[in-house]
Amino acid sequence: MVSCLAIFLCLIADSRASFETLLQDDECAEGAEACSLEALQRRAIQLEASQEEPAWEESVLAAWAHEPGCQGVLRGQCGAAAVVVEVEPESGGLTSKVYTAGAGGGRAPFDETKMTSIFPVASNSKILTSILLVVALADHGKVSMGETVSDFLGQKCSDLPEAVAKITLVQLSSHTSGLPAQPTNRHMEPCQRDPVNCNPYTKYTEQDLCETLREVTLGPKGHYLYSNLAFGMLGYFLELRMGLPYEQLAQTWVLHPLNMTSARVTLNESQWHEMTPPGKDASGEGRWRRHPYGILQGNGAFLVSVPDMGRLLGAMIKAERGQETPLAATLRQTLQPLAWSGYCACDACEEEELLKLSIPTAERGLVAMGWESSSSGLRRGWHKSGDIAGYSSWMAFNAALGRGAFGVDTCGGCGAKLGSLRGSAVQRMVRLLADGPPEKVVPLPQVALPELGALVGDFKACPAAPGKLQSTSLATLSLTLRGTQLLASTTSFTGEEGPMVTATPVSSAEADGLQAFSGVVLALSGPVGTIHGGPNEHGPLAEVSQRRTIHFLEEPFAPNKRGAAVLHIAGVDIFFVEDASQCP
Ligand SMILES: *[C@@H]1O[C@H](CO)[C@@H](O)[C@H](O)[C@H]1NC(C)=O
Ligand SMILES: *[C@@H]1O[C@H](CO)[C@@H](O)[C@H](O)[C@H]1NC(C)=O
Repeated sequence: MVSCLAIFLCLIADSRASFETLLQDDECAEGAEACSLEALQRRAIQLEASQEEPAWEESVLAAWAHEPGCQGVLRGQCGAAAVVVEVEPESGGLTSKVYTAGAGGGRAPFDETKMTSIFPVASNSKILTSILLVVALADHGKVSMGETVSDFLGQKCSDLPEAVAKITLVQLSSHTSGLPAQPTNRHMEPCQRDPVNCNPYTKYTEQDLCETLREVTLGPKGHYLYSNLAFGMLGYFLELRMGLPYEQLAQTWVLHPLNMTSARVTLNESQWHEMTPPGKDASGEGRWRRHPYGILQGNGAFLVSVPDMGRLLGAMIKAERGQETPLAATLRQTLQPLAWSGYCACDACEEEELLKLSIPTAERGLVAMGWESSSSGLRRGWHKSGDIAGYSSWMAFNAALGRGAFGVDTCGGCGAKLGSLRGSAVQRMVRLLADGPPEKVVPLPQVALPELGALVGDFKACPAAPGKLQSTSLATLSLTLRGTQLLASTTSFTGEEGPMVTATPVSSAEADGLQAFSGVVLALSGPVGTIHGGPNEHGPLAEVSQRRTIHFLEEPFAPNKRGAAVLHIAGVDIFFVEDASQCP
C-alpha cells in the first residue's frame, strides 16, 4: 500500500482537477492553518476512495470476511491474504496483485503493506517437492522415476514387505502408491503437552519410517489415495540421494530459480515472531506449527510469502502455455496426468475423513505430480490445497484463462463444515478468484419459444467414479419454461430443492468460443447452490457476483440426445446428463 503522502502526490500528478477540488475544500478555505498537508492528505484519501470502484477481487475478500464461521470469536483475531496473477496472452507479461481482509471485516492482523510475512503453505509444499523431484531427475540425472522404496531404504530398513519395497517414485508423487494418509506412529506427545506449537511430524526418524512401512496396510496401487506419508518419503529420499537437507535442496534447485526467496522451513525465534502471523483455531486459540519437522518435510514444511506463491503460479501458467520461463520444462512435467484424482479440502481430505462424508463426494479430475485438475468454464485448471491447525490455503490456475490465485487464512480454515467437502471459506474464495469476475453477457435477441422449449428437461449428475463417489452434492439440474422465461434449479442428493433462477441464452466472449462446440450458453441470474455446499447454500461467498452459466455439450455417442448440461458455478464445472446410462 502507498503511504498517504504518495497518494497525495499521485493525485497531483494524475489529475489537476482533483487537486483543485482539494484546494476548494471548506477546511482549506478557513485559512492556511487548517489547510495543512495532513488535511489535504486526508481529503486525497477520501477522494481516491470515492473515485475508484473497488476491484471485484476486493468484494470477494470482503465476502470471505463475513462468512459464517469467520466472524464471531475470530473477528479481529486473524485474516486472509490472497494473490491473483494474470499472464497477458500477447506479451506474456505478468501482473500480480495482493488482497487482504480481516475476519469479521476490517484489516488483517498482519503486515499487509509489504506482504513480506510468510505463511505455512502446508500441503502446497508437495508441489515444491514434485518440482524438486523432476529437477533431480531430468536436470541432474540423480534419480529415475522407476526407482523404488527399496533403492533408498533397502539397506536401512530390514524386512520391508515386498509390496512396499516395490513402490516407485512416480507412485509416491501422484498419490497412487497405496500408502495411507499418515504414518501410524507419529509422535503426538509433544502436541498433547503443547497444542499451540504442535507439529504432528516432529521428531519423526528413519527408524520410525522403517517401522511404519513394515506394518503398513497398503491400498490398491494405481488408485488415488492422498498420502502425506508418500510425499514425506519423497522429500527424504531426495535428501538421501543428493546429500543435502530438503530445505536447502528446494531453495537451490526450485525456489531460487523461481525467485521465491521468502520460502523457508527452519526459522529462529525472532523470525517466527517477525515474519509469521500466528494462526488461530475456531475458538481463537493460537495454533503455530513450531515444533521442528522430522524427516517427512516434503509433505508440507514450507512457509512462503503470498507474493512468492503468485510467482509460482505465474511460472506454472507460463510453462503450461509453452512460454519461456525458468524451469519451464520441469514445471510442465509436473502437470502430466497420471491417474484419476479424488478431491481434498479442509475437513475432508485425508482418507479417514473422506469416509465420514454424509454424501461420498469427489470431483472427477486427474492427478499429476501433486497437482489435481478440475474444469472451469470447460477449460482444465489445476489446484492444490493445504490445511494445518491454524491455517488453510488453496492455489489454482488456469493456463487457458491466463489466471491463477493463491490464498491463505490464519483462522484455521474457518467456514469449513465437518462431513462435507465444500472446503474452508478461503479455499472457496480462491476458486472464485482464480475463475475471475463475471463477464458482461449480452442476451441473445429473440430466441424462439420452441428453441427454449428444447432445453427443458431434468439432468442428473454423473458419479465421479462409477458406482462410488458423486462429483457434487447437487444431484439434479432442472430447466423449466414459465411463460417465455427459462428457469433453472437444482436439488441435492438428500432431496433439498434449490431456488429457481432465470436462465438467459447469451452471447459473450466466452459463449462465442463455446457456441460452435455446444450450441447454447445460458447465464443464470442468481445462485443455484454450490458444488459441495448444496442447492441452498447461502452466505456471502455463495452469493458474491461470479460467473454462473450452463453449457450444453453434444455427445457424439448419443446423436439424438442433448448430451450433457454443464453447470458452471463457484469456479468449477459440474456435468449432468439426461440419461444416467450415458455417464462415462
Ligand atoms: C524477484 O523478487 C523480488 C522481490 O522479492 C523482486 O524485487 C525482483 O524483481 C524479482 N526478480 C526477478 C528476476 O523477477
Ligand atoms: C535469526 O536469523 C536471522 C537470519 O538469518 C538473523 O539475522 C538473526 O540474527 C537471527 N536471530 C536470532 C535471535 O538468532
